[in-house]
Amino acid sequence: MSAMLAGKRVVVSAGPTYEDIDPVRFIGNRSSGKMGFALATAAAARGAEVVLVAGPVQLPAPTGVLRIDVRSAAQMRTAVLAALPADLYIGAAAVADYAPRSIAKGKMKKTGATLTLELVRTPDILAEVAADPRRPAMVVGFAAETDDVEHYARGKLEKKKLDLIAANRVGVPGSGFECDDNALSVYWHGGSRELGPLPKTQLAEALLDLVIARMQAASAPG
Ligand code: CTP
Repeated sequence: MSAMLAGKRVVVSAGPTYEDIDPVRFIGNRSSGKMGFALATAAAARGAEVVLVAGPVQLPAPTGVLRIDVRSAAQMRTAVLAALPADLYIGAAAVADYAPRSIAKGKMKKTGATLTLELVRTPDILAEVAADPRRPAMVVGFAAETDDVEHYARGKLEKKKLDLIAANRVGVPGSGFECDDNALSVYWHGGSRELGPLPKTQLAEALLDLVIARMQAASAPG
């Protein structure tokens, strides 16, 4: 029997963000959005009221989920913060870390042999949610790591003040971006668990079971 989420409000971010350079170009990444959409679907199936804030992806809206489409990190931040308060936030989006300082109004024409773009850091939506006065009881992040997975994932757990972090090992076949299967190393204060490799839909169910178990442990008396 899967753990239930009846009466809970869940906010999930999914997909990439696109940071526009000019009217025809952008900086983006290769996130398909599949993991976030699978998590939103699984949470709705367990009775949660789900808000899915989605970057540009080619995926149908899961039934029973309120989907809000956004493009940039700044738009995703606004939509996620507007969806609070919630009981659970899952930051599954691959938010662009940097965006062009300004968006050119007209199409940039090529001139010299090289082009330098000035990029500025985007807001860390996950860290902002974790620091918000309306902070959900459970804040879950993702991390994409190639080496020293536990060290870097636990570093993000601490720095962003998360309750749980799910680390993808990227750069190995059969895992990560644009794949149907994935494996996760999940860390929280005082514990860890390996999940998968599994199809992303089943992995989402397994991760949600773990998240709900942690929520129940945190709210248990004593
Ligand atoms: N995240 C976010 N806002 C950002 C950047 C990341 O909300 N501007 C969230 C992502 O949704 C994800 C987690 O933070 O849950 C990823 O953290 P990040 O520090 O970006 O990890 P990596 O992508 O692994 O980046 P790096 O190791 O290169 O710093």
